[in-house]
Amino acid sequence: MRIIGLMSGTSVDGIDAALVEIEGSGTDITTHLLQAETYPYPDELRSQILAVCGGEKLDLESFATLDDTIAQEFAKAAIAINQNHPKADLIGSHGQTVFHRPRTLDQITTNSGLGYSLQLGRGALIAHLTQIETISNFRAADIAAQGQGAPLVPPIDAALLTHPTHSRAIQNIGGIGNVTYLPAASPLILGWDTGPGNMLLDLAITQFTQGKQTYDSNGAWAATGQICQELVTNWLNQSFFQQAPPKSTGREQFSAAYLETCHQDALPYQLKPEDFLATLTELTARSIALSYQQFLPEIPDEVLLCGGGSRNGYLKSRIQTNLPTSHVLTTDEAGLNADAKEAIAFAVLAYWRKTHHPGNLPQVTGATKTVLLGEIHDVL
Ligand SMILES: Nc1ncnc2c1ncn2[C@@H]1O[C@H](COP(=O)(O)OP(=O)(O)O)[C@@H](O)[C@H]1O
Ligand SMILES: [Mg+2]
Repeated sequence: MRIIGLMSGTSVDGIDAALVEIEGSGTDITTHLLQAETYPYPDELRSQILAVCGGEKLDLESFATLDDTIAQEFAKAAIAINQNHPKADLIGSHGQTVFHRPRTLDQITTNSGLGYSLQLGRGALIAHLTQIETISNFRAADIAAQGQGAPLVPPIDAALLTHPTHSRAIQNIGGIGNVTYLPAASPLILGWDTGPGNMLLDLAITQFTQGKQTYDSNGAWAATGQICQELVTNWLNQSFFQQAPPKSTGREQFSAAYLETCHQDALPYQLKPEDFLATLTELTARSIALSYQQFLPEIPDEVLLCGGGSRNGYLKSRIQTNLPTSHVLTTDEAGLNADAKEAIAFAVLAYWRKTHHPGNLPQVTGATKTVLLGEIHDVL
């Protein structure tokens, strides 16, 4: 099948689109990437999404309009990625997360209540505008099965990146970081959100440059600063980093308000902007290393980075320093496009839904069982 995967993560930078040919069944599949591209959100839409994620109130009519405006952008991305190829058979669309609340500890201990995760960009409109069958809302069925609905990518990593002799951690660095642990040739797959990826860094740079820069290209600015390790150690004592998996997080936790407390914590150290950026970069690097040390059965032989943060050379070097026995690479070096991997994953999830293969891993999301993920929207 020729499938378009569409994804926009917590960075809200734009829509990652991948046109993929998929063959095989279940976890025994091969993917062939035909085309990949990121389509940035129009500035006004990005600001609106960030405002809503930040807690701005919307009446229901505005909510419906936002849902459809996002769906229109996703449909445009699908049409653009398909332009020079025969029409795709299927679209798998993650949509744009605007709210994510995992099941609380209280709900888990009393076994009452479910998590809640909301992705905008409704699949029905994408199917209508592209005239391609679309599968969306991938998190809902896992949440209904008492899971967190996240992370969903680990089983795809397992299918595409398991190595016969090397243990691997596949570390995505989007707005949030997430890891998939793949022991060599073994079915014991683990995965969780490691904490902030680029999110706090992006927010800080946007503040320092008054919006002229939205990210630290290659980590060039942070690389000129001095890391304040004492601050990083304090931050890592906070509950999210100490909490055992299953765990997932988002803008609700690592928000502008969280960054403000980081600024407050940093005041006594009188950090220059570049020192603060270096320290935030170190938080991402050390939170990744710490979660491996705390929650993995072994430190992996290889760490394969993907997502936008894999393009941050300074962050990559800090991860390498904090995990000296691992070989830190990108998924490109294992044959899977590091920028497009998350979009490819949603193409695979759509393929699995169509071929009736369950998409979630209960040990990763906390769900009680494996379930089919995604709602199917036919072209009507
Ligand atoms: N060349 C680069 N150097 C440093 N950081 C980068 C670079 N390219 C992208 N990024 C970071 O990656 C982020 C986007 O990553 P992405 O994987 O799309 O995350 P998400 O899934 O959250 O949307 C950007 O906001 C930016 O912080
Ligand atoms: Mg993105």
